[in-house]
Amino acid sequence: MENSLFFAKILAGWYQISQRNLPWRGTQDPYKIWVSEIILQQTQVRQGLDYYNRFVERFPDVRSLAEADEQDVLLHWQGLGYYSRARNLHSAAKTIVQVHGGVFPKDYQAVRNLKGIGEYTAAAITSFAWNMPYPAVDGNVFRFLARLFAIDEPIDTGKGKKYFTELAGTLMDKSDARQFNQAMIEFGALQCTPTAPGCSTCPFVDHCAALAKNAVAHYPVKQNKTQTKNLYLYYFHIQAGSPPYTYLKKRTEKGIWQNLFEFPLLESEVPLDFNELCQTKQFQEWFPPTENLQFKLVIENKKHVLSHRIIYATFYTANAGAQFATPAAMFKVKANEIDQYPMHRLMSFYLRPAHTTQK
Ligand code: ADE
Repeated sequence: MENSLFFAKILAGWYQISQRNLPWRGTQDPYKIWVSEIILQQTQVRQGLDYYNRFVERFPDVRSLAEADEQDVLLHWQGLGYYSRARNLHSAAKTIVQVHGGVFPKDYQAVRNLKGIGEYTAAAITSFAWNMPYPAVDGNVFRFLARLFAIDEPIDTGKGKKYFTELAGTLMDKSDARQFNQAMIEFGALQCTPTAPGCSTCPFVDHCAALAKNAVAHYPVKQNKTQTKNLYLYYFHIQAGSPPYTYLKKRTEKGIWQNLFEFPLLESEVPLDFNELCQTKQFQEWFPPTENLQFKLVIENKKHVLSHRIIYATFYTANAGAQFATPAAMFKVKANEIDQYPMHRLMSFYLRPAHTTQK
């Protein structure tokens, strides 16, 4: 690659003809850009679009988000995963109201100091909203640069992140950081894709070091292969009464699903059969033998993959009589009002009528 001007020019030419028309590109409102970036950290653009539109319609500005109930915020996040990101968004909106008078701070460091905003998100917000020259280096950009220059530095270390961010900074067209950053991200998302990249139509085809070595798939290099651990969840859906109601628990413990609602459950690092479940102290406390509940297996080992975990969820259901006492830490919910409670994907999967047809 001869020089950075040459690079930026090729990239801009590609972006002119290839860019997608996305709603957060048509705005310079830092709040909306922020929301879009947090959503896009965990989902593909296609799925993220719906979430983005619903979120900014319900919470159109910082103040409306800051004043919302956390439960309402989580409901709009339901199904996206990484619920701590929604909680951080909510908490940072409150900070903007309390510390910055409700106006999004127009300063990189102040943006970076907000809860849940790292170097990438701060660079994305400040460049897209105000054209500030901070390189926004996300997974798309790491991959593109690692291949273009055949860089063996791992992308998942502090040192590697610094290296790639500095490289992006040297290539950046500082007169148009907004477009440069968007184009870098878009290039990784559309052209230099993780698998089956479009090398045959790539404008950098004559400059790509990885392609020249026939080693595109080798890049980007990662140091730590994520360790995944199995977790087995056993849910109990108790149905009772007329009109019908059920029992939920709020997950208060710190962790990925904090403040979401679910059926009472037992968690285990090893699989347990129904007899083993019955022998646990917790099960006996919730469902004493005197209740004589007849549990039926509904879904067995539904697999749910998270970044560090593979979850296998099993659901049992039982009908309880009118005398069934609400177990400690649970509360009763009318079956037709269950939608008001934010839940993770596994619960939504179970509650979706179609699940019974899927074996
Ligand atoms: N992924 C992360 N940020 C993005 C953006 N602004 N546009 C498209 N894809 C993205």
